Amino acid sequence: VRVAVVFGGRSAEHAVSCASAGLVLGAIDSDRYDVVPIGIARDGRWVLTSGDPARLALTSGSSPSVEAVATPGVSVTPAAGPSGGALVFSGPASVPPELGEVDVVLPLLHGTFGEDGTIQGLLEMAGIRYAGAGVLASAAGMDKEYMKILFAARGLPIGRYVVVRDRDWGVSPSSPERKKVFDEVAELGFPVFVKPARGGSSIGTSRVSGPDELEAAIEEARRYDRKVLVEAFVAGAEVECAVLEGIDGAPPEASVPGQIVVDPQSTWYDFEAKYLEDSRMEIPAPIPASAAARVRTLACAAFDAIGCEGLARVDFFYTPSGEVVVNEINTMPGMTPSSGFPLMWAASGVPLPQLIDRIITTALA
Ligand code: DAL
Ligand code: MG
Repeated sequence: VRVAVVFGGRSAEHAVSCASAGLVLGAIDSDRYDVVPIGIARDGRWVLTSGDPARLALTSGSSPSVEAVATPGVSVTPAAGPSGGALVFSGPASVPPELGEVDVVLPLLHGTFGEDGTIQGLLEMAGIRYAGAGVLASAAGMDKEYMKILFAARGLPIGRYVVVRDRDWGVSPSSPERKKVFDEVAELGFPVFVKPARGGSSIGTSRVSGPDELEAAIEEARRYDRKVLVEAFVAGAEVECAVLEGIDGAPPEASVPGQIVVDPQSTWYDFEAKYLEDSRMEIPAPIPASAAARVRTLACAAFDAIGCEGLARVDFFYTPSGEVVVNEINTMPGMTPSSGFPLMWAASGVPLPQLIDRIITTALA
């Protein structure tokens, strides 16, 4: 089976995607899969790469990029062809033409133009099969406003939030629109989390402890997305659960839940805590069995609420009074060495090579 692993991309999570690809490319079963590692550069160009896992690690000293592993001069275009979709290679370096006849694309891309339905639409149009969520589920999973609307419609417990659109923000700090935003946020109570509506990895996200910090936090989030979400703080532990599409039409399956233990250097689970510091996951999460069962049930319900396929990671709060609140779903969860998705499946008896195999196999079924 020939699989194109596509990584990098135009989103703020480019480096995280490279790190996900590094782990997957190093673990994929090379007896079963013929891997074509394709990068999307920050400017949007598709290029062939070496896919060298050693050069894709994310550390505090280095941020991996597609540019650094690109095969000079070879660009790639997905295109519909007479016998199905293909990836067309062009450039001075000679590339065996059969390389383009991939059976499936594994879009290991996080965020905008990767996890939001856009590349999924491009691949649908080219007639190329791909792993993971389709157009609608990807778009709904990326946009935290519509994600919450769908979760609420299915009766899933979610936190309170305020959406700040461009027109809600008004043109000046003293505008009546902006005052209304401040009033609505004050009703949530502080602290709040301010996020780009369609972001990831905590990029552009701030924890705001009082009204004085709100304006700057919304402006920071607006650098990434003109639509911003302000979420009420939910006290409790951050618990995650990984989900896989069921085999042969069976219902989705949930992993053993894990709990985030944030590195003491960070006050919350921000980018540094996620990827660069010594945060870790406690797996299984140290919560009562009934709460773990509820997390697993809700993880599958969240997966179904957006019509997800393939894989996802669902993130929760487990409150001191024993409530389980759904925070979000990620349709292409991080697969870096510190990411919950591969760790929780490993702890549930599915080691990474088998996990990758399962994701590709369901895409081809
Ligand atoms: N957005 C990152 C990659 C995650 O959810 O794991
Ligand atoms: Mg996310």
